Amino acid sequence: MSDRPLALITGGTSGIGLGVARCLAGEHDLALGYATDGERAATAEAELGKPARVRCFGERLLGYDDARRLVDRVRSEMGASPSVLVHCAGRARDELFLKSDFDRHLERLGEHLVVAMALAHCLVGDMYRRRFGRIVFVSSIAARRARPGGAGYAAAKAGVEGFTRGLALEVAHRGVTVNAVAPGLIATPMTEELVADVESRGRVRRTIPAGRVGAPEDVGALVKFLCSAEAAYVTGAVLPVDGGRSLNYV
Ligand SMILES: NC(=O)c1ccc[n+]([C@@H]2O[C@H](COP(=O)([O-])OP(=O)(O)OC[C@H]3O[C@@H](n4cnc5c(N)ncnc54)[C@H](O)[C@@H]3O)[C@@H](O)[C@H]2O)c1
Repeated sequence: MSDRPLALITGGTSGIGLGVARCLAGEHDLALGYATDGERAATAEAELGKPARVRCFGERLLGYDDARRLVDRVRSEMGASPSVLVHCAGRARDELFLKSDFDRHLERLGEHLVVAMALAHCLVGDMYRRRFGRIVFVSSIAARRARPGGAGYAAAKAGVEGFTRGLALEVAHRGVTVNAVAPGLIATPMTEELVADVESRGRVRRTIPAGRVGAPEDVGALVKFLCSAEAAYVTGAVLPVDGGRSLNYV
């Protein structure tokens, strides 16, 4: 047992989730979820194993039962209930709605929205009783902007933002905050091709006011603040972390 707070980070062994894990490792023990990539999990565990107590959990999360299983495993294998939840797991795949297979949309809604709600449902009771909890969902600037092929993803992320506000309202009086962050373009394994394309066409300066693609730790730094004691008065917010991209009209 350890007296450091335990943070459950889904998608915590890659990309943005790993950036969040790096930022929280100084003050938290870490339960890191991932879908299939065991090798990345082993690397993350080796990297973050000191100073944090780290354990990785391979569970593909698509619905309530998967979320329940992950939370039960984390509680029994780490001997504590997480007081911090960061839901980062999920994929983005563009596909024109007119030509799409509807099951893919259900899958997207499952991993981004249903799993966010299910994890919160499994954990928020303990946070409420403990009078402390921090929940952060990773949304996207895509929740408020449109692009061809992005309708299903935007629907899932917009759902996450609505849920953030609703849940925040119910638990604010017990020291539990619920927020979302909305990244712009962040360099991760998921965006490798897109980032290469944007950089090769010289579109970075035109589309991102900060003049660079984001790093996972740009998101991690904001999440670290939202998970801190100092952020006690910030709840129900959706905070962009996008180098100003959502301000830009081009
Ligand atoms: N990279 C970006 O530019 C960007 C921008 C906005 C929002 N996001 C969001 O950030 C989150 C993380 O994206 P990333 O770019 O770091 O991706 P990534 O592919 O680098 O990492 C995703 C992680 O989630 C895990 N994962 C994916 N689907 C899962 C599932 N169904 N169950 C369990 N684990 C699953 C993967 O194993 C991996 O560890 C996603 O929700 C994505 O929509 C990313």
